[in-house]
Amino acid sequence: MKVRKAVIPVAGLGTRFLPATKAIPKEMLTIVDRPTIQYIVEEVVSSGIDQIIFVTSEGKSAIENHFDYDFHLDCVLKEKNKRNLCEELDSISNLIDIVSVRQKKPLGLGHAIWTARHVVGNEPFMVLLGDDLVLAETPCAKQMLDLFDELQEPIVAVQRVSKEQTHQYGIVEGEEIDRERTHMVKRMVEKPAPGTTDSDMAIIGRYILTPEIFDLLGRTTPGHGGEIQLTDALLALKNLRSMYAYEFEGTRYDAGDKLGYLKAILAYGMRHEKLGSDLKEHIKELAAGL
Ligand code: UTP
Repeated sequence: MKVRKAVIPVAGLGTRFLPATKAIPKEMLTIVDRPTIQYIVEEVVSSGIDQIIFVTSEGKSAIENHFDYDFHLDCVLKEKNKRNLCEELDSISNLIDIVSVRQKKPLGLGHAIWTARHVVGNEPFMVLLGDDLVLAETPCAKQMLDLFDELQEPIVAVQRVSKEQTHQYGIVEGEEIDRERTHMVKRMVEKPAPGTTDSDMAIIGRYILTPEIFDLLGRTTPGHGGEIQLTDALLALKNLRSMYAYEFEGTRYDAGDKLGYLKAILAYGMRHEKLGSDLKEHIKELAAGL
């Protein structure tokens, strides 16, 4: 089966980024010249998916508005003869079919995904976290979709992290298979205490899931922090069918974290067509003054 739909949960509170995120969703913070969420939507579009399902919450309407058509703004820009801007805004609102569902309470990532069950229906789907950016030659989503075309089984994206960082992630213990960068998942531990796992493969914000996950999420009781944890349901899914961990090509930035966000701005800025060379020059000057 083909993956046609992507769920992007954006209903989290963004407490790590307060006070910036008091009135603005973290997904709307700017990386160079567009909000974080636009990079993620563009990744989905360039990977060939047909529909995006945003899981939103109170205070997140700026995200929906960003991808909507703004009649008033369009008229004003046309009056002012700003055709290029009109075209750019038009292209953003025509990127892809977008549907929103509302998570009424922040009961966790697992609950946010479960909220999208009726719109996803009985088919495989992708999940991308709204604050997790991956800078890559081939979009990370596309790399994973190609793998899913072959395997037709759930896939989690993983990156190697240092031993000191494993306690911040869901960690996968896997077995290599005869395909580059791919492991069969044997065990998964959410935020393991130091010394309790030898693996350094951390799950990041990209998943391809099969629809059995909805039933499993519906039966998952609140775990760590009183939230319905996706990892708990993933463990149950792994017992039903094979699951794979994929070491994607590219660099991931956690744009929901202050330092991750700054790193993302530099990385995306340095690659920017118009601003890149001046920014690199400036970074060199700053480094020389350290
Ligand atoms: P995070 O762990 O980043 O949580 O959620 P958060 O609440 O957004 O931010 P902090 O940790 O308080 O700073 C991972 C992803 O899951 C979504 C978030 O929007 C983010 O994309 N999420 C989380 C929901 O949609 N609903 C929830 O109840 C929790």
